[in-house]
Amino acid sequence: MTDKLVLTQPDDWHIHVRSGNVMHTVIKPTAECFGRALIMPNLVPPVADVKQAKAYRDSILQALPQSSLFDPVMSLYLTDNTSLDTVRAAADCPHVCGFKLYPAGATTNSDSGVTSVSRIMPVLEAMAEHSLVLQVHGEVTDPHVDIFDRESEFIDQVLLPLRTEIPALKIVFEHITSRQAIDFVTEHENIGATITPHHLMYSRNDIFAGGIRPHYYCLPILKRRTHMLALLDAATSGSPKFFLGTDSAPHVRGKKESSCGCAGIYSAHTAIEFYAEVFESMDALDKLEAFASFYGADFYGMSRNTGKISLQKSSWEVPPFYQVEPENKNDDPCLWELVPLRAGETLRWKFVG
Ligand code: NCD
Ligand code: ZN
Repeated sequence: MTDKLVLTQPDDWHIHVRSGNVMHTVIKPTAECFGRALIMPNLVPPVADVKQAKAYRDSILQALPQSSLFDPVMSLYLTDNTSLDTVRAAADCPHVCGFKLYPAGATTNSDSGVTSVSRIMPVLEAMAEHSLVLQVHGEVTDPHVDIFDRESEFIDQVLLPLRTEIPALKIVFEHITSRQAIDFVTEHENIGATITPHHLMYSRNDIFAGGIRPHYYCLPILKRRTHMLALLDAATSGSPKFFLGTDSAPHVRGKKESSCGCAGIYSAHTAIEFYAEVFESMDALDKLEAFASFYGADFYGMSRNTGKISLQKSSWEVPPFYQVEPENKNDDPCLWELVPLRAGETLRWKFVG
């Protein structure tokens, strides 16, 4: 039985690290384990141009020890008004690798997102010319479409036509959750997908197990168990189209445990351990390194990391919460607690450096 895993240092190709005190709490585990992480731009206001991305990247680096080698890779937030100049500037910036498409209203802080893909076709064409990658939150926003069908509708309404119109545009279908998304990615060229730990471990039943559980609420929402099983097969298949992206999306307790709680699951505290457990449960630990450390870098046309990380087989308990320093001194510190995925539960693997 394997009790130690040594992997090429992995990358997290989809993460929200926020800003301010939340960022100071969440950035450390990612920077210690991962060589690079693709930083999502859905701050308020959004990170929509190269100048803002550089400032945001600097603030992330400043929150880390000077000795850290962690490399934040930036994605710019597409809006209806993104200009061709912004695309050119992004192509010239070594720290920006692409643009994030949030359909307006699809998820947390997506209000400034794109109202219709037809409006940004010249920008997408310019991105393809400059080999910039489009990262897609793939859900339609029509409130009449059932929340569990929004990803598959997005494939039919947006991705299929887009694939035909700009075949050269590299697309990452982010945090896929359904069999339909797996099939679409498998069948088309120039498209890869990230898969989160939570979509590999949970189904929609977990949101409602014995009551409503806001810490399992994320977007795209957890789907039926059959989709989870299909995702497990895809992630462990050895296909280079599927790679690691946690979509770790921390919101403090006050924003999660509320009558209208935010979407997002905080998983960065022990991300690689989650994937190790999942791959082990599929008897596929031999496929973990490529999923976590090779396929994403290859898709993005970046060199693979050369460092190594180790995980040890040992049982340990995830803390019930991580304390974020309240930004408003009058706030109850409880409201600023971050409840991580698997809070208080025992894990089988531990990242040891
Ligand atoms: C993300 C967030 O909180 O920023 N939430 C989530 O549920 N995944 C936004 C997103 O990626 O959809
Ligand atoms: Zn996300």
